[in-house]
Amino acid sequence: MKATLSTMVRMALLSACVFATAAGAEEAKKVEFNADTPQMGFNNWNSTHCRDEFNEDMIRGVADKLISSGLRDAGYRHINLDDCWADWKRDKNGNLQPNLKRFPHGIKALADYVHERGFAFGLYSSAGTNTCEPHQANRGFPGGLGHEKQDAAYFASVGADYLKYDNCNNQKVPAKERYKAMGEALRATGKPIFYSLCEWGENKAWLWATDPAVGASSWRTTGDISDNYASMLKIFKENVVLDAYAGPGHWNDPDMLEVGNGGMTDVEYRSHFSLWSIMAAPLLIGTDLRKIKPDALEILLNKEVIAVDQDPLGVQGKRVRDTNGVHVIVKPLKDGSRAVAVFNEADAAQDVAVSAKELGLQASAKYRMRDLWKHSDAQGDGSIKLRLEPHATVMYRISAQ
Ligand code: GLA
Repeated sequence: MKATLSTMVRMALLSACVFATAAGAEEAKKVEFNADTPQMGFNNWNSTHCRDEFNEDMIRGVADKLISSGLRDAGYRHINLDDCWADWKRDKNGNLQPNLKRFPHGIKALADYVHERGFAFGLYSSAGTNTCEPHQANRGFPGGLGHEKQDAAYFASVGADYLKYDNCNNQKVPAKERYKAMGEALRATGKPIFYSLCEWGENKAWLWATDPAVGASSWRTTGDISDNYASMLKIFKENVVLDAYAGPGHWNDPDMLEVGNGGMTDVEYRSHFSLWSIMAAPLLIGTDLRKIKPDALEILLNKEVIAVDQDPLGVQGKRVRDTNGVHVIVKPLKDGSRAVAVFNEADAAQDVAVSAKELGLQASAKYRMRDLWKHSDAQGDGSIKLRLEPHATVMYRISAQ
């Protein structure tokens, strides 16, 4: 089932490109996207919420910037629209329709633009009567509950390859029932659509979302992230203990990245990116890339850290130490090496020593210790000894020599 989905998604993207321009088709041939590794891409929510700047100019500009900055080629292949893309009411046939102020050329034209440049295109809805963002009379935009078939058909018709399905206004209908109804409707369209659940961990989606009747490829494990260190830290702690539930085709989602939004220091953003990667989390950029500063871009472009997130073994890192605010997380990788993140959550610097044994390595052997932020190599016995600044993370890839 999982292998079939990923093959289908890959095929779908390749076929979407048959109609693309010659140059676009050239680019699109490079698309290799599936749920075998965590999804990577862009979603507008963290930077725009529902403000007017969320519109087709922004999304096109972001697509262009993903290409010109090298982010697309570093693996960021999804472009997803969040809440507020829709009009607040359905059309006379009960179909969803775009907000034409934001998207004067419609959603299909935007999906085409995105596909032609080698990206997958994503939309958002809620497994409730309305979405989350209050609109008129405190109601959100139209939601999918009771409209699953019609809405799934709409998503497929405009070329959506991805659906983020939220949890607001759910009328207390049991979660699995609601998410299964949309999962079935998406599959019934015949178009492969990546299914990303967003029930905030309220119903422990990790226990049931992989049931083929639901068919989710990822599920949110926590409430919403905000652009500050306390929020990032809280979410990390909630997600890191769920490692047993993640694997190829089914990922824990601790919410989208805040890197670049300005509310954390670069040290904290590097920790955020390191921790999400060692937890094999989806890497969905949540900043307006048209305005990103070079330091933040450099974080998002760190291919050695991305490679940890995207490692084909598909294991979420396991925390082996949580003492005095020091967290040590170890992630086995396909080539037999191990990624290690050592994070100091405290507000003061700390001296940290981690033995090879704690990392599951033999102390006697000789190891190559690759520092994934300094991009430098050292030889060692597998142990780590250093002084960690407040809120900082070091990351190594340790391989036998
Ligand atoms: C919820 C989700 C967020 C975002 C908003 C949109 O809060 O958890 O990620 O999609 O809704 O309204």
